[in-house]
Amino acid sequence: MVQQRVEFLYLTQQDVIDCGATNMAMIMHKIEKLFSLQDKGETIVPDKVALRWGDADSEAKTGRINAMPGYIGGDVNIAGIKWIASKPMNPLLRNMPRASALTILNDVETGFPLAVMDGTIISAMRTGAATGVAAAYLARKNSKTLCLIGAGTQNHTQMIAVKTAIPSIQRIHVFDISTERVNAFIEKAKEEAPDAEIRGYQSASEALKGADIIVSATTTVKPIVKAEWVEPGTFISNVGNYEYEFDVVRKAHKIVTDDWDAVIHRGIQTVPQNGDSPFFSYAQGENSFP
Ligand SMILES: NC(=O)c1ccc[n+]([C@@H]2O[C@H](COP(=O)([O-])OP(=O)(O)OC[C@H]3O[C@@H](n4cnc5c(N)ncnc54)[C@H](O)[C@@H]3O)[C@@H](O)[C@H]2O)c1
Repeated sequence: MVQQRVEFLYLTQQDVIDCGATNMAMIMHKIEKLFSLQDKGETIVPDKVALRWGDADSEAKTGRINAMPGYIGGDVNIAGIKWIASKPMNPLLRNMPRASALTILNDVETGFPLAVMDGTIISAMRTGAATGVAAAYLARKNSKTLCLIGAGTQNHTQMIAVKTAIPSIQRIHVFDISTERVNAFIEKAKEEAPDAEIRGYQSASEALKGADIIVSATTTVKPIVKAEWVEPGTFISNVGNYEYEFDVVRKAHKIVTDDWDAVIHRGIQTVPQNGDSPFFSYAQGENSFP
């Protein structure tokens, strides 16, 4: 049998941008379609594999690389994998982004690779877009104030997505433990959301005042947001891990996830005050989710 040459596209970060990867409205449209296909059972999303240098607790310092395979059916009909590294100390020690990713796409019939591409921007954009689609359906239509907890990479695309979904947003409050990062965030955000009033805050409670929408994307391992700081009717997107004390979750009228099994697979949770985690109980089949 003749061995065929394997040829595939290699797309640099600039190629990916040139293909429209920074067009938030377009990405939100695609993510909404993806959620619809997922709802119809036309996706396959196996559990992610996490490569760690230590245990879950040391991950905040030593980081991880996740392998995240998936298949999208319908008229998309493509398989692929995101290989995404998280090194939380990168911004502090190396002035480099925390996350970096590669994406590989495969032809479903032959299994052959079709393309290898930079996945860093795609990953950040799709994460923002997921919040944007959720906000379009679940946040108050006349929302005016967005509060961002965390002034890192993710909250830029989160902010752009929320502004795309809810154009009535006029004020953006930003809180981070690092004032330097808040200032740098605001400089860039002024270009990304020129019509909004953007202010930095020294405390989460101050930043949360008047928020219609909260997005948290930090690397914290301890809760930041207290339940009494969250007004009824607020839309929250929990992009990071541990930003909310568990009473925030208990107070919620509605909890929506893109994929519950993926959420509980790696024990991603808010920290309950009594030390028990309903998320883990659910995973063990007891379904004690409040
Ligand atoms: N849900 C998803 O699909 C998804 C996708 C991508 C990233 N993430 C998560 O989003 C989070 C943020 O990612 P990023 O790339 O923006 O990281 P980043 O390192 O660029 O930014 C994180 C920010 O959190 C701040 N921070 C840390 N502890 C804090 C605290 N106690 N209070 C306030 N601010 C604090 C840091 O100062 C930093 O500015 C990570 O936890 C990442 O794993 C989730």
